Amino acid sequence: MRLGIVGCGNIATPYARSIAAADGLELVAATDPLPGRADALVAELGGVAHLTLAALLADPSVDAVVNLTAAVAHAEVTRAALEAGKHVHSEKPLALRHDEARALMELAGERGLLLSASPATLLGEAQQTFWRLVRDGAVGTVRVAYAEANWGRIETWHPTPATILSVGAMGDVGVYPLAILTAIFGPVRRALGYQTLALPDRVDRDGEPFAIETPDFAVAVLEHAGGLVSRVTASFYTTPGYQRGIELQGDDGILWLPTWLDAGSRVLLSTTGNADDYAEVAPLRPPYDGVDWSRPLVDLAAAVREGRRPRASGEHAAHLVEVLESIERSHREGGPVEVRSSFTPPEPMPWAS
Ligand SMILES: NC(=O)c1ccc[n+]([C@@H]2O[C@H](COP(=O)([O-])OP(=O)(O)OC[C@H]3O[C@@H](n4cnc5c(N)ncnc54)[C@H](O)[C@@H]3O)[C@@H](O)[C@H]2O)c1
Repeated sequence: MRLGIVGCGNIATPYARSIAAADGLELVAATDPLPGRADALVAELGGVAHLTLAALLADPSVDAVVNLTAAVAHAEVTRAALEAGKHVHSEKPLALRHDEARALMELAGERGLLLSASPATLLGEAQQTFWRLVRDGAVGTVRVAYAEANWGRIETWHPTPATILSVGAMGDVGVYPLAILTAIFGPVRRALGYQTLALPDRVDRDGEPFAIETPDFAVAVLEHAGGLVSRVTASFYTTPGYQRGIELQGDDGILWLPTWLDAGSRVLLSTTGNADDYAEVAPLRPPYDGVDWSRPLVDLAAAVREGRRPRASGEHAAHLVEVLESIERSHREGGPVEVRSSFTPPEPMPWAS
């Protein structure tokens, strides 16, 4: 599959390197409104730099668009790409509003195109091993999950943190464990949310002060269709430490994935229910070291070939946008909010099924 990257910022180089290393993928084009960004990317990793989005979308060598723009531009860029007849993989969130996300999914369906979206870290070896243990009943029926997405002060390393911080902690990082929990335990049916702005005044890595207005600390309690209750915390204030994993509490034991991000995360199981007895479980196959950004793109290419939906589906991503909206609305209105959308759960990776 020949890919065009739209948005050549911080994450574009890791994506492009991962594309270059993947079988069956080729970077053929890139564009970014900021001068020089697309040129620098293609100079290192190949392809043609287009001056505008319209020019990239008119390029017949592009089969699919990889949307790596800032979240505020996600829906607009994805819509333009679908209208131009390209398959799309979008970074998260798929859109800022659920009605926009749903409309994108419908547009893809009408045009016979595939839409996939991050987070897709569920496709990693550790995450697939974790999921397989749940399916195999290693801890019995799982009734409660705790998930932590404490991402700390991203302005200490990200060159342009304001666009990321403006999405809020739940929308930018809480979505990672939300994507994994909903894939395994089904869509959210009721959401209770709390959010606040813990540290509005920030200083960027050049020492320049700036202010943020969106919540940097959020907690959600979610009822899933499968009966699970999950408590998800996301923060751009709290120092990450150990708090970036998922712990599942089952009738017959506990299961811990210390990070939902890296494919090489440890996976720990205790069948006594005592955390002192946690023992490592070997991954289902040797893991990728870090995040393999191209994995959902390889899956998208296979989905096009095989005429099936991608594992990191747009339908699932649109549900996550409704969950985010519901968490925010619950905080505003002071009570639980019903979540109506659903999605077809993804299949495990072939090597994990
Ligand atoms: N930085 C990370 O570590 C990271 C990790 C995972 C996911 N992501 C996600 O990837 C996306 C991009 O993140 P980033 O950190 O690279 O942000 P960034 O701000 O560094 O880069 C975004 C780029 O998109 C460009 N852009 C904005 N509007 C555009 C438009 N309409 N058309 C084309 N280009 C446009 C900007 O000029 C910029 O170069 C975000 O959704 C983010 O959540 C980032």
